[in-house]
Amino acid sequence: KDIGILGVPMDLGQGRRGVDMGPSAMRYGRLQEVLEGLGHRVHDYGDVRVPVVESLRHAQQEPGGMGYLEAIRTVCLDTIAAIDQMPAEVFPIVLGGDHSIAMGSVTGASRGERIGVIWVDAHADFNTPETSPSGNIHGMPLAHLCGLGDPRLVHLGRPGAKVRPEDVVLIGIRSLDPGEVRLLRERGVMVYTMKEVDIQGIPAIAQQVAAKFKGFSRVHVSLDADVLDPEIAPGVGTPVPGGLTYREAHLLMELLADARIVTSLDMVEVNPILDIANRTAKIMVELASSLLGKKIY
Ligand code: ARG
Ligand code: MN
Ligand code: MN
Ligand code: MN
Repeated sequence: KDIGILGVPMDLGQGRRGVDMGPSAMRYGRLQEVLEGLGHRVHDYGDVRVPVVESLRHAQQEPGGMGYLEAIRTVCLDTIAAIDQMPAEVFPIVLGGDHSIAMGSVTGASRGERIGVIWVDAHADFNTPETSPSGNIHGMPLAHLCGLGDPRLVHLGRPGAKVRPEDVVLIGIRSLDPGEVRLLRERGVMVYTMKEVDIQGIPAIAQQVAAKFKGFSRVHVSLDADVLDPEIAPGVGTPVPGGLTYREAHLLMELLADARIVTSLDMVEVNPILDIANRTAKIMVELASSLLGKKIY
């Protein structure tokens, strides 16, 4: 495959500093070399420019994180433009940054077509500004991709929703706000909570996901580091106990690779300041290599 790496060092979607260093941490974890070792051709397109939070102090006067909406919107537009620069057959890997970047990465990766989304996360990120208890925009990208919430984020790049709620699968979920539960049910989104992971196991879930997206020309995996158990991936801003084990996460990536459905990836919420010796970034690099076809036999 031809793979394009793009960094989006965004930390405006939530309150903890350090997640802007995620792209460096995963590059330092030898992402490009590892993927080249699998036989892929990899080009690094560098980083999208993100304003430093201190330069936006005036914006903080608005309650919660909504003061950063315009800045986040601009970064997402630049992310779409950067993906548009990649040839259409390239497999984009977008490195966050917090999860608000997905409004740009998924829109860019869709190339204006129907796209399936596999959202692998402890959280659903299905809040709107109205339902969000925190006001943090990183808890809202999937809702906005599905057409719910603030029109300035819904109509990003091109008018209208970018993803159909019935084309979304959530995996690893274990923390939902009340408004998200209501919206997810109302829109009929397919949700595999950790309870489902425990009951059905990753193989059955991966099989259902593969069946669902069979025939799709574009399927995006949005991998939030906090889906992993914090014991193995401590470098995240919103840890929730009881996450995917190392083996479950790898198996999911390996089975998605076998299904040959995935056409783009983002890896988000890696926060090196909260991490132990870059452990979380290293696991993310390993997961990317499993998704992109690493076989040991
Ligand atoms: N649901 C919570 C909120 O809206 C947490 C969201 C965490 N999102 C993430 N991308 N880590 O604030
Ligand atoms: Mn910053
Ligand atoms: Mn997330
Ligand atoms: Mn999360």
